Amino acid sequence: MFISIEGIEGCGKSTLVNGLSEHLQNKKIGHVITKEPGSTSIGKILRKILLDKKQQISPLTELLLMFSDRLDHLEKVIKPSLKEGKIVITDRYIDSTYAYQGAGRGISKDIINNLVTQTEILLPDKTILLDLDPEIGLKRASSRNELDRFESENLEFHKRLRKSFLKAAEINPKRFLVINADDEPKKILQSVINKLSTYDERLKESY
Ligand code: TMP
Repeated sequence: MFISIEGIEGCGKSTLVNGLSEHLQNKKIGHVITKEPGSTSIGKILRKILLDKKQQISPLTELLLMFSDRLDHLEKVIKPSLKEGKIVITDRYIDSTYAYQGAGRGISKDIINNLVTQTEILLPDKTILLDLDPEIGLKRASSRNELDRFESENLEFHKRLRKSFLKAAEINPKRFLVINADDEPKKILQSVINKLSTYDERLKESY
C-alpha cells in the first residue's frame, strides 16, 4: 500500500508519520517512512535549494525541481519498497505540487497534469489530508523554527494551499481521507489507524 500524508505547514504531518511508524513497528509490518522533497542523495541537494530563502526560483523551475526529486524518489525508494511488499508512507507527494506550485505559485493545472501523465508517476492508494486553518498552522510552524522559503509566504498563499488540498479531496473521495488536524495528536493517530485498517486488516488495533 502506498500512502501519502498531505496538508499545510504546521498541520502535524511529522507527528502523525512518527505515530504511524511506531504502530507499524509494533505490529511488525514491513514499511518505509519517506518524504518529499529530500529522500535520496539527489533529493537532499534539491531540498536544500528549494527551501533556501536566499534562492530566487521561478515557479516553473520550482515545479521541475519538485518533479526531479519525485522521479528519483520513485525510482530509488518508493517503487523498490512497494515491490518488496512494504507499506510506503510518504510525507508529501503529488497533491503538494497541485497545492504549492499550482494554487500557490499559479502554474496551470494542465501543465502539472501533463507532467503527471508524461512521467507516468504512481498515484497513492490512500492520501491522508490533515486539514487545518492556516493561521493556526503558521503559528505552530513559526514557533518551532526559522521559516523556510515556503513557510515565509503570506497568509493568502497558505489559504490557497488549503483550498487546493480540500478541492483535491473533493474530486478524489476514494483516495482521500480528510482529518481535522485541530485535535489531539493521539486522537488523530487513532482515527487514521481506524480508517486505514478498513483497507488493510493488518493495521487493526489489537485490544
Ligand atoms: P516539509 O518537509 O517541511 O513539508 O517541507 C517541504 C516543503 O516543500 C513544503 O513547504 C512544501 C513544499 N513542496 C512543494 O512546494 N511542492 C511539492 O510538490 C512538495 C512535495 C513539497
